Amino acid sequence: MAGLFISFEGIDGSGKSTQAKLCFDALVQKSIPSLLTREPGGEVIAEKIREILLYSQDEVLPQTEVLLYAAARSQHVRKVIEPALAEDKIVICDRFVHSSIAYQGYGLGVDQESIWQINRFAMGNIFPDIVFLFDLSVDAAQQRSQERAQSRESLVNSEKSKRDRIEARSFEFYQKVRNGFLEMAKDPRVKILDATKTPEAIHDEVISIVCQVYQGGRNQ
Ligand SMILES: Nc1ncnc2c1ncn2[C@@H]1O[C@H](COP(=O)(O)OP(=O)(O)O)[C@@H](O)[C@H]1O
Ligand SMILES: [Mg+2]
Repeated sequence: MAGLFISFEGIDGSGKSTQAKLCFDALVQKSIPSLLTREPGGEVIAEKIREILLYSQDEVLPQTEVLLYAAARSQHVRKVIEPALAEDKIVICDRFVHSSIAYQGYGLGVDQESIWQINRFAMGNIFPDIVFLFDLSVDAAQQRSQERAQSRESLVNSEKSKRDRIEARSFEFYQKVRNGFLEMAKDPRVKILDATKTPEAIHDEVISIVCQVYQGGRNQ
């Protein structure tokens, strides 16, 4: 089989990056060839697009936002993700296409079918085998994000220690994004995890699902 592609999804502060790193470290520990990457970014041009998306002082229109995320994704998929999967690696990606549907579709109200269409072009043949959805209330997620920002600020007093363009959006926006993610969990590839649990308990569930799917693929 050709690798395994796993995306980590959820609203800001839900614990995606924490779990993506824990999962990657556990796989490396088991000597399973793996790659940890993130969106927007994960590739030189895609990281430049990330700068515009997250830190632009000028207005980025919703439609433009959709296209920029998709452009970054196209670079990332073809130059990084696809080659790693061809080498049989497990690819762990911190955010992927479901974030585009949740944030720009459900959150900003851009037509969802158009976003899917643009992203089908951007992704080519690549789609996640497993999508972990870390579900947390907007209140709890914002609380965690705030604490994370404060601890970052005490380390580096830079512009990027503060909230980015997307993180600065309203409570109502995030409510729509969370509900959108839950709506997409009707797809059996999307696994909802209760993000209120401890990082260790969530990690155990993640690894158990990854190993199950990975072993299943190996035995085919
Ligand atoms: N299960 C958890 N319980 C409590 N706090 C958590 C948990 N997972 C992560 N955190 C903390 O919450 C903050 C946000 O986590 P992070 O992984 O950066 O979220 P995301 O990448 O989804 O924005 C961090 O300060 C992190 O240490
Ligand atoms: Mg993160």
